[in-house]
Amino acid sequence: METEQKMERLKRLLDDWDSCERCGLCTPTGRRRHHVVFGEGSPDAHIVVIGDAPREKEDITGRPFAGRQGEVLDMFLNDNNSTRDDVFLLNIVGCRPTDEVITGKPRAPSKAELTACSPRVAAILDIVDPYVVILLGGTAFKTLALEKGGIKAVASDSQIPDVRAVTQGTFMQVERTAFATWHPNYLLANWTMDEGGCVRQSMRTWEKAFRVSDMCAELYRGITPPLRSNDD
Ligand code: URA
Repeated sequence: METEQKMERLKRLLDDWDSCERCGLCTPTGRRRHHVVFGEGSPDAHIVVIGDAPREKEDITGRPFAGRQGEVLDMFLNDNNSTRDDVFLLNIVGCRPTDEVITGKPRAPSKAELTACSPRVAAILDIVDPYVVILLGGTAFKTLALEKGGIKAVASDSQIPDVRAVTQGTFMQVERTAFATWHPNYLLANWTMDEGGCVRQSMRTWEKAFRVSDMCAELYRGITPPLRSNDD
């Protein structure tokens, strides 16, 4: 798809989700939602990075990873000679899932909230059509990865295995190459630059994701992968 067509489709999708009332997060108890954090970045990105959910800063600004976790994300991008403009960033749910005004604590998105927001995630992936998806943390991993089990086993595996991120396409399920790693929030809470530590593990995963994406870009430079003819 041409860039302009992608931009137009993303704009239409954004307009559709901008005033979304598909789940209860549009009118959270005791306060109002400021923004649906749709996602942002390059429509031609080779890498889509998926977090879990907006926090307070994201809700206020309408931009993903606007807070401290975003600084960690920027560090990984920077380590790979990249910036936010080169990738596409989004969250599994577009609104801040919290009853913070009452409990003082953020919470993970519920099953109903994940289900309500899944067409947004699927449509963004369909339009951007990246070579590689990076799943940050347990919520993104559990929601999209075909592989079962917890994020811990994958994120700390020294082999850095790729997993499959599965979304519903127009006619069938679509599987994409993905890498799953620690959420920036987890890294901030467990920060260590020790060799076997979570930050180094994450660095290696991000590096591999970029390497695989670059290899795909090199392979398909400027061309759409050819369709096989019926007679070969
Ligand atoms: N900010 C986001 O937008 N997403 C996360 O997953 C964490 C912080």
